Amino acid sequence: MADRMEQMRQIKDEILHLETSPLYAYRTENNYYPVIGEGSHSANIMFIGEAPGKNEAQQGRPFCGASGRVLDQLLESIGLQRADVYITNVVKDRPPENRDPTPEEIALYTPFLVRQINIIQPRVIATLGRFAMDFVLDLFDIPEKGGKISKMRGQVLDAQAEYGAIHVVPLYHPAVALYNQSQRKTIEEDFAVLKEFVT
Ligand code: URA
Repeated sequence: MADRMEQMRQIKDEILHLETSPLYAYRTENNYYPVIGEGSHSANIMFIGEAPGKNEAQQGRPFCGASGRVLDQLLESIGLQRADVYITNVVKDRPPENRDPTPEEIALYTPFLVRQINIIQPRVIATLGRFAMDFVLDLFDIPEKGGKISKMRGQVLDAQAEYGAIHVVPLYHPAVALYNQSQRKTIEEDFAVLKEFVT
């Protein structure tokens, strides 16, 4: 456990000094923080979003704005708190105006996410939104990759991580519930799929 903590600290340190990142200048000019991740280093379930938004970059914490509040409620609906899971993003620095990360940015931050996955060794990776779904399905070369999120959401897909067999569960981004209230129930039902992995 101490070792996991140390490895995570190392990742944080490297990202803090990642001057080669195209997002580094934007971070420092705005007094933003990188968002490494938050939660249990031995979590069974790991949530992966796209990239920090403004709130997240200001606080250095993932999902701490409006969509984070939805995420907290969804976790609660399956009897979990943030401390029970691990939450992170594909890209650790905020892209300007919340634009999609570029292929160069994704490539630069990918090794950090892969290290985080291998440190925590979750049994389940739940992706939040289309971007994270595409990225993770591609990372594990899952046959269903390229599918539409409206079709893939709530499915339990099999994948092979370096440390063993895992499941990947694509979910809608919690922000969807904010701008489309009619989808709230769907999102809750999809989330309930994770219940069987709660220990
Ligand atoms: N959206 C994301 O994808 N990640 C965050 O951390 C916050 C909002």
